[in-house]
Amino acid sequence: MLETIEKLRTQALAEIAGAASLRDAEDLRVKYLGRKGELTGLLRGVSEAPQDQRPALGKAANELKIALTTALEERTSVLGSAESAAKPAEDLPDLSLPGRRPPKGHLHLVSQVTDEIIEILGELGFQVATGPEVETEYYNFDALNTPDDHPARDSHDTFFVAPGTVLRTHTSPVQMRVMERCKPPVAVVAPGRVYRVDADSTHSPMFYQVEGLLVDEGVSFADLKGTLMHFLKRLLGGNVKVRFNPHFFPFTEPSAEIHVLWTSERGGQTQERLLEIGGCGMVHPRVFEYAGYDYERYTGFAFGMGVERIAMARHQINSIHHFYEGDLRFLEQF
Ligand code: PHE
Repeated sequence: MLETIEKLRTQALAEIAGAASLRDAEDLRVKYLGRKGELTGLLRGVSEAPQDQRPALGKAANELKIALTTALEERTSVLGSAESAAKPAEDLPDLSLPGRRPPKGHLHLVSQVTDEIIEILGELGFQVATGPEVETEYYNFDALNTPDDHPARDSHDTFFVAPGTVLRTHTSPVQMRVMERCKPPVAVVAPGRVYRVDADSTHSPMFYQVEGLLVDEGVSFADLKGTLMHFLKRLLGGNVKVRFNPHFFPFTEPSAEIHVLWTSERGGQTQERLLEIGGCGMVHPRVFEYAGYDYERYTGFAFGMGVERIAMARHQINSIHHFYEGDLRFLEQF
């Protein structure tokens, strides 16, 4: 058996030295050292040899294994560098090319428009206020002059979390939370998410509103209109066409709906339509009563606007659902 080992050594080393390519070298590795290779078979044979010969045989076989492994490694490295040197230049990476840049994110369109609204109103002296999204019925409805049996509750299809607790249907509850904390004059802007059981191309079960509230002595509807026109011209351009429709809200009197003229694609045609972007009005005396304000002395205005609707009017976006699908082809345009 020792002889077999010696013969294998001579033969294998000669073949390895003669390997002409990395492929050949790999084939030889399999031939001798692979699971079914010749040397592997030989190593197994050692255990069947007579007891007194086993140590010597084992030693010789192991030495051969090391010798072949080393020879293969050396040959592979020589062949490897020769092969890569022989490669034509165009197959090699061009190290002077710039690296791949990871794409850079940016603020979502809703955040961008919200930030702009806060900035414009901030210049007018409005301060940011916030309130909880899980709200009590008291703040969402009762304190806004909308008692339990009030028909206006029907117009807000409400998500109930628990008895007496709702997902706020508008940002108007922040008005009351602010008035409870601060004495007039107050001027706040309250951005945030609101929820309604509602879904079509201009409605989503969750959307963003921005609430405005200004209370002082001698505030009039003209102040409301002037503020809103200034703000809408800044956001939608000086030529924006706005319509104030008489409307009803329990917490403002008089009240109006705000519409803007927008162009949108529908069925391949460009159409001009009126888009309702929010509601507004003069704060109802009952609301001041709930807040503990003297309604003989103070007047105020409030408005609530849909952020997505404003973005839709500004960028001719025809469905509110584009905002929430997370499709980068849409989001990256802004
Ligand atoms: N909260 C009203 C809504 O979401 C909008 C509104 C706000 C109306 C403030 C008047 C004053 O429908």
